[in-house]
Amino acid sequence: MTDIHFNKEKGSQLKLFTPGPVHVPERVLKELAKPNDTHRSQAYSEMHQIATEGLQKLLFTKNECLIFTSSATGIMEACVRNLVKDDEKALFFSIGAFGDRWYNIGVTNGKNSVKEGVEWGKAITPEFAQEALDKDNYSVVFIQSNETSTGVYNPIDEVVPIVKDTGALICVDATSSMAGVKVDVDRLGIDVCLASVQKCFALPPGLAVCSVSHATFEKAAEVKNRGLYFDFIELKKRSAKHQTPTTPPIPQIRGLTTQLDYILNKEGVEKRFERHEQLGKRTREWVRDMDLKMFPEKGYESNTVSTISNSLNLDIPKMVSKLLEKGYRIVNGYGQLVNKTYRIGHMGEIQIKDLEEMLKDLTEIINELK
Ligand SMILES: Cc1ncc(COP(=O)(O)O)c(C=O)c1O
Repeated sequence: MTDIHFNKEKGSQLKLFTPGPVHVPERVLKELAKPNDTHRSQAYSEMHQIATEGLQKLLFTKNECLIFTSSATGIMEACVRNLVKDDEKALFFSIGAFGDRWYNIGVTNGKNSVKEGVEWGKAITPEFAQEALDKDNYSVVFIQSNETSTGVYNPIDEVVPIVKDTGALICVDATSSMAGVKVDVDRLGIDVCLASVQKCFALPPGLAVCSVSHATFEKAAEVKNRGLYFDFIELKKRSAKHQTPTTPPIPQIRGLTTQLDYILNKEGVEKRFERHEQLGKRTREWVRDMDLKMFPEKGYESNTVSTISNSLNLDIPKMVSKLLEKGYRIVNGYGQLVNKTYRIGHMGEIQIKDLEEMLKDLTEIINELK
């Protein structure tokens, strides 16, 4: 099998500047290799409790936090199945591929789904949100905080209160920003805030997490055909015992507790958010200095992934493979943005120094290719 993480030239690991999965630190890899007890043991329950309490701190919430054996898409589907009744309408705000995905989950689950979108590269502004909400009665509203395809960060601090004023429940997909950007769940009144862990948490894929409000559980109890694997009510019942209804990936949860401890008690949440802000800012400065062009509308650029327009008409696959030879991976655009944009992920444990080193090599490659 090819040793995918080994960079022969530098004799070191490949550095992932990707929007997930990202580089997993050694301290987590070591934890994953430890022996396990069963998921009904006291040792497991203690670990589970540490994880969910850590998530509450990270999300600034007293809401219950749940752990799912799935990627983020699983919780996106859970929100739809648990919260939208057959005679209700759900509104999906979409600014890119993952907003479209959530809407498709609504449609494919037979829910009465309405999509309100803007041109890719733009954000859902408070004015746009208000206008969309005024058109009809929606029971649940779905929105991304960070749209990973376009690299746009929606102004959720302003949009969420507008949604709450209508009485609807609000679900926020924070997959590519949770643990990198502050999401103040209780202050904003977010009902479900979800993410998978292979992005800003810097854990291997396979696990997703969310906070769930009291109102959400009350609503779920009234919804029929919630299914079995992703039933919020069953998850809540088991969560009271600090367990999951089915067998969870125990090593992954150990990894989550390790990372939460690092984030909350070693690096510190505010410092972590600041670092991601600096990574975003520095990447945008580099884009400006290189005479390149950011894809997102100014003012809404993500601090965890920079989507750059291919304004120089570069051969993106060639640029990506040349950078791979130097030991770094960046990625092409997503979906309809393939070859029109490329993306630099700067999330998880990436430090400014790592970014500077990668940008130095990328500068040389771009100058050579253009
Ligand atoms: C904003 C957003 N939502 C949802 C997803 C889907 O996540 P997963 O692959 O963990 O299901 C992604 C993945 O990149 C994402 O970036």
